This record gives sequence, structure tokens and C-alpha cells, in this order.
Amino acid sequence: MIETIKHIHVITVLISISGFILRGIWMIKDSPLLKRRWVKITPHINDAVLLVSGITLAIMIQQYPFVHGWLTAKIIALLIYIGLGFKTFRFGKSKQQRITTWMLAIFVFIYMVTVAINKQTLPFL
Ligand code: HEM
Repeated sequence: MIETIKHIHVITVLISISGFILRGIWMIKDSPLLKRRWVKITPHINDAVLLVSGITLAIMIQQYPFVHGWLTAKIIALLIYIGLGFKTFRFGKSKQQRITTWMLAIFVFIYMVTVAINKQTLPFL
């Protein structure tokens, strides 16, 4: 059971970052695809599954944010990632700024994956 949920979690993680990178490329190219309804809605559905599977896993392995450091770091990074995503696709003032926040968001995402795999707040040290 836990392995199935972990698979769902990891698959939604992969879909999430692939979609984020693709939408960023469309943003850079000023593609009209970015304005499509399904392009705007699908990431929210996937991210909801990602979040619910993550919370389910946390309950199953009894490791909680604000109790265990690595999950606290992951949640804080998630909030930063969401904020950077808003800046990239909604509130970014110039394309240069949008590209910067897009790249920062990708780095934050890589941090979250590294934290999840190593279960350490500072996995690079
Ligand atoms: C964009 C956000 C997220 C990313 C990139 C991410 C990434 C990952 C990855 C790659 C794994 C697999 C680690 C492994 O194979 O050992 C994982 C596992 C896990 N994640 Fe997430 N996750 C995210 C959001 C969340 C959230 C919001 C929660 C909880 C509130 C959460 C809780 C967990 C838990 C408990 C595990 C299982 C750890 C284990 O049993 O080994 N994740 N996550």
C-alpha cells in the first residue's frame, strides 16, 4: 500500500516538474498554448494529487511537518516554490523577471526532491 502511494507521489512529482518546465519554455517563446484552459487547469489537479499523496505518506510513516526537520524544510520550500510559480506565470513584471523566478523555482524543486530522498534539511552538506 505505502509503495503504491509513494509511486503515485513520485509520478505526480515528475508530472509537476515536467509541466512546470514546459510551461516555462512556452512562456519564454510567448506561445499561445500557455493561455489554453487545460494548460491552466491540469497542473492544479496534478498538484492536488501530489499534496494529498504526500500528506498520506506523512501520516503512514508518522513523520510530520513542524515535528520532523526534513518535512518542515519540504513544506517551507513548497511554499517558496508556489510563490515563485505565481510570480512566473501570473505576476511577473517582465520576461527577464519571469525567467529568473522560473529558474529559481526549478532549483527549489530539486532541493525538495533531494530533501525527500535523503530525509535531511541540508542534503548538500
Ligand atoms: C513539490 C512538492 C514535493 C516534491 C518535489 C516531493 C518529492 C518527493 C520524492 C521524490 C519522494 C520519494 C523519496 C524516495 O524515493 O525516497 C517523496 C516522498 C515523500 N514525500 Fe514528497 N514531495 C513533495 C511534496 C510533499 C508534501 C507536501 C508532503 C507532505 C506533507 C510530502 C511527504 C512525503 C513523504 C512522507 C514521503 C515518503 C518518504 C519515505 O517514506 O521514504 N511530500 N517526496
